[in-house]
Amino acid sequence: MTSISAGSKRDEPSNLRFIETSRPVVDESREVVASLSEQPPRLSPKYFYDSQGSELFEAITELPEYYLTRAEAEIFGRHLDEIVEALGVADVIIEPGSGNCSKVLPLLERALPHTFVPIDIAGNFLWEAAKDVARQLPELSVTAIAADFTRDWTFTQAIPAGHRIVFYPGSTLGNFEPDAQRDFITQLARVVGARGAILLGIDLHKDGVTLQQAYDDTAGVTAAFNRNILRVVNERAGADFKPDQWRHEARYNPDLRRIEMDLIAESEDAISVGGQGFVFPPGAAIRTEHSYKFTLEDIQHLAAHAGLSLAKHWLDNQSRFCLALLVPGTASP
Ligand code: TRP
Repeated sequence: MTSISAGSKRDEPSNLRFIETSRPVVDESREVVASLSEQPPRLSPKYFYDSQGSELFEAITELPEYYLTRAEAEIFGRHLDEIVEALGVADVIIEPGSGNCSKVLPLLERALPHTFVPIDIAGNFLWEAAKDVARQLPELSVTAIAADFTRDWTFTQAIPAGHRIVFYPGSTLGNFEPDAQRDFITQLARVVGARGAILLGIDLHKDGVTLQQAYDDTAGVTAAFNRNILRVVNERAGADFKPDQWRHEARYNPDLRRIEMDLIAESEDAISVGGQGFVFPPGAAIRTEHSYKFTLEDIQHLAAHAGLSLAKHWLDNQSRFCLALLVPGTASP
């Protein structure tokens, strides 16, 4: 039940439409109470991304340890011609979780869609990023949608028809649990229809040290990003965490092929949210994020589950990261 209103901010470029979906009618404090009551306690990663969180994440992508963004950019740098050719006709490029929109620019400049649809939960951040894109590419229509794209896509009527390409970079798919990964790819398959395609950036399974360091940098930016979730939960769900009392921890679980990110209480934090109290003694952990890593086989299985096939893929120089092109239909040999 999302209401859509076209934005009419005054400095809006004429090729930009801003659509703000109303916040879902979920009671976020109840959601937080429920997830903190689980064993182990959890917080939804959606609370990472307010404007400050989006900025911290941008800083993560520039860290020496965080190779993912550079590896993905390298793939684009080397193979852009081939990627664009493999996409075929691209009328509309849709990017869920578009952030600062920097990854999609080379693709927009080469594939020349008539419309770009960035979707992000951080509305103000999205507005600024979409405005920049609209100014840089005046021939392009930009339809920016502020929405939680992990929920039902109630906003699909705002997306123009034609050959639709979903661009989902940054290994964001890995931040869903496996069943949600399958559901999400299935949702994307529905959005692109029979003539579209999905271009997926996916981090690959590798040695645990490289992975662990990527999520626990020496400068402490990832730690700040992780702790920021408590500030956002305080604001959005009316909790009263003391973020400074929590420490960041990240490790790679090779059996489940995922990074597990926790916040650990350094001293007791007694909080209240939604009329309920929680006491976290020193050493108590809250799970904030999983980042699953994939093999090529994993990607094939995911695609098959959604009625898609892995048509093509590109790797960086060191085979750390994969850009996968999924198209409707079953695999051809
Ligand atoms: N999808 C990216 C990843 O898993 C981005 C990300 C999500 C991230 N949560 C994070 C990066 C926490 C660092 C820390 O790598």
